Amino acid sequence: MVSRMQPDTYYLRSFGCQMNDHDSERIAGLLERLGWVRRDLPEEAGLLVYNTCSIREKADSRLAGHLGTAARLKRADPSRRLVVAGCLAQSRREELLSDFPFIDVLVGPQSLHELPRLLEQRRDTDRPVGAFEETTGVFSAALPRARPSGPTAWVQITAGCSNFCSYCIVPYVRGPEASRSTVEIVEEVAHLVEAGVKEVTFLGQNVNAYGKEPGFAGAEGFADLLALACEVPGLERIRFMTSHPKDMSEDLIDLLAASNQLCEHVHLPVQSGSDDILSAMRRGYTREGYLSLVRRLREAVPEVALTTDLIVGFPGETEADFEETLSLVQECAFDGAFTFIYSPRRQTEAARLAGRLDPEVARARMARLVDLVQRIGRQRNEALVGTVVEVLVEKVSRQAAGEVMGRTRTHKPVNFPSSPEPGALVRVELTEATSTSLRGREVPAGASVRS
Ligand code: SAH
Ligand code: SF4
Ligand code: F3S
Repeated sequence: MVSRMQPDTYYLRSFGCQMNDHDSERIAGLLERLGWVRRDLPEEAGLLVYNTCSIREKADSRLAGHLGTAARLKRADPSRRLVVAGCLAQSRREELLSDFPFIDVLVGPQSLHELPRLLEQRRDTDRPVGAFEETTGVFSAALPRARPSGPTAWVQITAGCSNFCSYCIVPYVRGPEASRSTVEIVEEVAHLVEAGVKEVTFLGQNVNAYGKEPGFAGAEGFADLLALACEVPGLERIRFMTSHPKDMSEDLIDLLAASNQLCEHVHLPVQSGSDDILSAMRRGYTREGYLSLVRRLREAVPEVALTTDLIVGFPGETEADFEETLSLVQECAFDGAFTFIYSPRRQTEAARLAGRLDPEVARARMARLVDLVQRIGRQRNEALVGTVVEVLVEKVSRQAAGEVMGRTRTHKPVNFPSSPEPGALVRVELTEATSTSLRGREVPAGASVRS
């Protein structure tokens, strides 16, 4: 039985997206409820847990290095246990077991609740054990949580994804999209606020599709859910990610313009600026459709910060296609972008497409793209120097004594010398900019400032 498990120590490391991070908080919550105590170093822990990602090849190879360390630690003390959780555990279970036969437990992202049982089961057998649920409607948010103390928190609103973008493995690993009950989401937000949280980020692969699946009985749509969350007393800020351009509603844009709590930042992955590539990616919008959405957003919320995801080197991408991506990036003037080289994923449609790019060509395009993204990011940030913005203090800086790090409503990190507690909302005059961050000085409450 679960209750017989002895208190012990665990080490936990996440490799994936925000959803994976959120799942890790639930894994930690489950373990701590059973008396396990967290350690910062794998050497110090009896249970090693790696929560994995399979979105790109790189994620796989990074894990291999960590599992090498785990193997060494297990040899040093064979009573150590090794758990591999998450998307890679689900999608590559056979390979993982044959390449790393010293794994004790494999657990997919829809089966995290099984972890205590699996650890018990592993004690009674000398073979690896695992659990992998294919269906969705399983929300890790239903599990206990241990999260780092701080004024910000993730809130899961959907699980899975039904979009099947042709390059992406997520729908195969996490199953079809399912929306979490509106009542549970709003209750969780209220509890978090009671515990001192000031800012929540609603998480889903496509938050704009919240509540769209047939038979869903909660809020009518994502904008309605946000409007309900805005009413939770004491909640200062709400963010959300990821927004899919094809499903972004007028209601949501109106709410962004009208609400005090909704932050002026939208992460809106475009992936490519070429219609041919967008169509081969099965994204469901065109270049012009995306550009007109950006225009509407900027019109409704002039101070909005826009960030995006971009893929270079998709099969068949020509120099002309790539230049369309560059020109779109220029036109949208993104505040920031995550840039990725296309990585073929087994199971997906794009992995079977002809026209694979020479890796050298893809790398050269990537370098040009990153250069442009950084140049525009710096310009956008430099334009803010001299203005006064609201910053939510997130943490005391580890690098610089006497400094804190916080974020603007537009999600830009700001470092400044000060001593307010994490959770304080302060006014900061911005004094310096890089392509990805800002520095500033605190403006005392009540002082007159140029804004
Ligand atoms: N659901 C979100 C993000 C999912 S994954 C969305 O649709 O926007 C995060 C990013 O990883 C994607 O936006 C995409 O840019 C990138 N990505 C996904 N699969 C990839 C692949 N096979 N190769 C390279 N990048 C990929
Ligand atoms: Fe992947 Fe597309 Fe779903 Fe995002 S929307 S998780 S890119 S399939
Ligand atoms: Fe996230 Fe990676 Fe899985 S991006 S959904 S942890 S494949």
